[in-house]
Amino acid sequence: MQKIIRFFLLIFILSASQLLGNERVHGPYLQDVRPSEITILWETESPAIGKVLFGKEADVLNMSVAENEPKSLHQVRLSNLQPRQQYFYKCVWHNGESAVGSFRTAPANETTPLRFAVVGDSRSDLVMCKKISDLIVASNPDIVLHSGDIVARGKNLHEWKTFLFDPMEELLRNIPIYPVLGNHEQESPHYYNFFPLHENKPWWSRDYGPVHIIGLDTSVPTDPQSEQYQFLLADLKQNTKEWTIVVFHYPLFHAHPTRPIYEFRYDWQPLFMEHGVDLALTGHDHYYHRSFPIGRMAEDQKGVVHITSAGGGASLYPIAPEPYSAYYRSLYHFLTIDVTENELEIRAIDQDNRVFDGIILNKNQDYSPANFVEYGMFELERKLKNQLGQLSPTNSKNNVVFFDTTFAIETDFYMPVSGHYEWQAGSAWKLKSSSKNFTLTPGQKLQIKFSGEVDKKNFMPTPELKLHLEADNSTRNVLGHRPYQRFLGFRNQDLHFSIEEAAYKNAVLSSVENLQPVFYFLDYYAESKYAYDVIVALGTRILRTQDRRILTNLETLLQKNPSDLNKFRIFPFYFLFNDFSHLEEWIAVMGRLPSEHLSFAPKLICTLTDLDFFNTNKVENWQLLGPFAAEKGQGLVHVYPPEQELNFTKKYDAGTGAEVQWHPYAGKTIDLLKALTAPDFAFKEGIAYAHTTVSASKDGEILLLLGSNDDPAVWVNNKEVHRKKGGRSEQACQDMIIAPVKKGRNDILIKVGQHGGAWGLNLRISDWKKILE
Ligand SMILES: [Fe+2]
Repeated sequence: MQKIIRFFLLIFILSASQLLGNERVHGPYLQDVRPSEITILWETESPAIGKVLFGKEADVLNMSVAENEPKSLHQVRLSNLQPRQQYFYKCVWHNGESAVGSFRTAPANETTPLRFAVVGDSRSDLVMCKKISDLIVASNPDIVLHSGDIVARGKNLHEWKTFLFDPMEELLRNIPIYPVLGNHEQESPHYYNFFPLHENKPWWSRDYGPVHIIGLDTSVPTDPQSEQYQFLLADLKQNTKEWTIVVFHYPLFHAHPTRPIYEFRYDWQPLFMEHGVDLALTGHDHYYHRSFPIGRMAEDQKGVVHITSAGGGASLYPIAPEPYSAYYRSLYHFLTIDVTENELEIRAIDQDNRVFDGIILNKNQDYSPANFVEYGMFELERKLKNQLGQLSPTNSKNNVVFFDTTFAIETDFYMPVSGHYEWQAGSAWKLKSSSKNFTLTPGQKLQIKFSGEVDKKNFMPTPELKLHLEADNSTRNVLGHRPYQRFLGFRNQDLHFSIEEAAYKNAVLSSVENLQPVFYFLDYYAESKYAYDVIVALGTRILRTQDRRILTNLETLLQKNPSDLNKFRIFPFYFLFNDFSHLEEWIAVMGRLPSEHLSFAPKLICTLTDLDFFNTNKVENWQLLGPFAAEKGQGLVHVYPPEQELNFTKKYDAGTGAEVQWHPYAGKTIDLLKALTAPDFAFKEGIAYAHTTVSASKDGEILLLLGSNDDPAVWVNNKEVHRKKGGRSEQACQDMIIAPVKKGRNDILIKVGQHGGAWGLNLRISDWKKILE
């Protein structure tokens, strides 16, 4: 008997050790290569002492460096290497080893020709990511720069394997990678863990041959007071390299059809211009876009070329070209940059390995003015938009509001500029003197008058300003500068400014004190295409500042204009302050509104609850029961067994000729036709039940955000907390239910009716009082 026990014990130990085997999880991958050094990293399932064997030939790995203590994430620095030399290596640990990889050290000599590769937004499509990654390997670069969005959700550890370490395995094993953080990395600790050489900072810089490379993070503050800006400024000042390349995620000059201009354009671009940055590489917008060099002609700058290279795998975006767009295509791709002392030769290469765009930046060559963009115009555009965003009525009487404002914008043209402006408005607006011709001498302010009236109810769309500017080329030689040729009006191109857009921008950027115009527009925003963005922007601001003055302003607005629509749309602001005092009123208003208005607030609340602040979880673990047969229109009313007892082992007569039993289901949204294997219920009346539990550390309340198709009823701990009759299609956050919970385990039971067609539900639980465990 003892022998048998020993035998099974041995089997158990053997299989357990196999289960606990020390397999490679991530890597190896290469970091921070220099003329005589490189760091090799890899991760094993459990701690082990790692060692790197290396040599100049693949089959002669006659040198080694070992770690001193067992680790899971191994990090071995090789030193005393020869510059510009190919080495082969493999990583070994007590019961495993990696495949053999290779790398080239950096050159000691600044005149050695080099090749960099660039890729961005490689998340989400593993097949394309691998394809592009393999093409990069085949192009044989010295290093690869990644412009961010390596993974879809950086806080999910498994995605680093799925989206980075698996599809890019060969690239990572053979080419040192220099990544920056994209928004999808979510400032995640995993990023810093995997790239420890960044020393827990989201910004970094390195020299490679004659190139200084700076990596920045566009998801953290960028303004002149920020730590990042101070780093950038100091780094640019001490930089002595011939070429400077900056890599970051959000583009300063994009061609996305709907995204706003990112404000850090005005922080960083002047620094780039002043300190001679040659190339800015960015990601985020999933296409290829190359700008003309952007700089100041008056200072005879060479300008900064901005390239968005975000074609590494994530689904592609359409492009809306801007006047600064030199070349653009929406396709999967990567870049190579060949570096010599005098030239950067950039090639954009598609997924079939064809070069589809190229540019040579040459230190000794002047760009033609026709291919140069004057940065001063962007500053003018910004100042004008800022002022439009502050626009408020000067007076109002009955339902009519009056405007009488003159905007005065500073300019810094260095030659005379002529032009005209015109306000374009719908027939509801009565505008006075809505257009004007003007000439500006250097230093003179651009003055634009806005005067008129409109009936409140016909406020949208707001007027748009059309501005045309043209330089007087006859005086081009007065100051000895190159003439303006390109960008926004200097060759018969016009600027358009929308007041709505300006109000949106104002909401995003203003301090709380300056938000008054936004509230004014909120009153009318039901018709504005920016309505949703304005509220999300305000919501984000509230969450950041928790400034209750915003709510006070909204309450004032609501008192002045307590229409159902305003009550309905303003509710999300109360929600932001965890103030549910108007919830019942909100639900009552919802019943009175026509259906076209109903999706707005739930969509908004969904967006807001996605922010970390709300501690909202999408429920994934369920028990399901059904389908039960139902009489037409009677299913929600009829009492089925789960409403009387929760017994997860019992079988029930479903009234369909079959028996049903609770069974587990995992998923954030439940398609009941599939989950209950009941496709025939697409054509029948029916009832299903979904059950989940939450555990609370004390008695209190949680917020249930329910979406369902069709009508739901909800019980928490056998007490009914919600019921809504009638067919509907499913969205997230359709119903908001405040539910009492008790210390310990709580049962949540949801009944969902089916009246034909799709059948399903989804549930988010917002733990705003932070009582759930
Ligand atoms: Fe992104």
